[in-house]
Amino acid sequence: MSQPPDRRQVYEPTLGPDKDVAQYLTENSPTCGWQNPEGDKYWQDRRERSDAATEEAVQLFYEMTKQIAEEIQARTNALTPGDLGVHPFRALDLCMAPGGFTWGTLKYNPDATAFGITLPAENGGYKNCLTLPAERVNFIDITMLARECGTDTIPETHPDHALFIAERPFVDERFQLIFCGGAVLRGHERADHRREFERTRLTTSQLVLAMQRIIPGGTMVVLLRKPEACDVVHLLHQFSSCADIQLFKPHKKHAIRSTFYLVAKNVQPEAESAKTALQEWKESWARATFGGDAGTGEHDVDMDAEVVKELLEEFGPKLIGLATPLWEIQAGALEGQVSNKQRKDGPKKRHYWPKKRG
Ligand SMILES: C[S@@+](CC[C@H](N)C(=O)[O-])C[C@H]1O[C@@H](n2cnc3c(N)ncnc32)[C@H](O)[C@@H]1O
Repeated sequence: MSQPPDRRQVYEPTLGPDKDVAQYLTENSPTCGWQNPEGDKYWQDRRERSDAATEEAVQLFYEMTKQIAEEIQARTNALTPGDLGVHPFRALDLCMAPGGFTWGTLKYNPDATAFGITLPAENGGYKNCLTLPAERVNFIDITMLARECGTDTIPETHPDHALFIAERPFVDERFQLIFCGGAVLRGHERADHRREFERTRLTTSQLVLAMQRIIPGGTMVVLLRKPEACDVVHLLHQFSSCADIQLFKPHKKHAIRSTFYLVAKNVQPEAESAKTALQEWKESWARATFGGDAGTGEHDVDMDAEVVKELLEEFGPKLIGLATPLWEIQAGALEGQVSNKQRKDGPKKRHYWPKKRG
């Protein structure tokens, strides 16, 4: 009798703490992580194409984000956290354009007041397809919010010295629902030194602002990649210590990519664990912005192997439970992609890694 195909994929990253996580997943997860050059290449191609944002492409992208908003709501109820005793209901969409999540928020909370921050189109940001009153949308580069991120004094020698922003947008407002949906765009006009660390700067600046604006008990929805990467595992663990977390991957729209959304409900910004995480994100933003010999950024220090071990002992089983549906969606979509390509190009050796045995 023929054996059913082995759906366990082996995640084989190269070095450092990612390797320790990979080994743990290989030994403990029914699906394991998925080392997917195909998926990452696809992500890269998609990004390059979507960055060529024509009017038509933005409109299509808007429709896509509206559908994702509906799917998130159907599967997690993230968009209706309730007013939590604070009226009126307010939502903040970080990296808002084209505005699909805000559209969804207003669909499910017709009385809500929506606010947004997004990169100006003239700097390469997406155009906003959803119009909000001007005082409720801040067109800025969120990664330059120095004071928000805990830095009052910018080194004189920094090449972007004049571009940092001291203002703290919506500083007196609090929100029941906050989206952190930013993605680094190739079309974003920025200096060459802002390449390597830009994703860290974008993620941390959004998280810092969101954690400093969320109402206790509120919900945060955060766009992330690769639940099997060590820094992401650490982030998920941080959130699980101060919120109730779920992971969400749209079945159709992001299926093949490694992207997914963290839905963190009942976030408690006053919890010690949330304060510790906030401080860590601020330090990570500062390091990615001002660190290194050139003073324009350096990587976070890798987590120590012992710390990774403890993290996995405590959080590994929960991680596997949370991430397995994501890996399954991505594995299924990649299989579909590979067989479509084979149909077109003829049979070719598949790039799956056999599970190591013994
Ligand atoms: C994936 S789209 C977000 C989709 C949006 N959440 C929605 O619901 O339609 C990524 C967004 O991040 C924005 N973005 C990228 N870098 C940014 C930055 N440095 N500051 C502010 N926004 C940024 C882009 O302009 C784009 O609007």
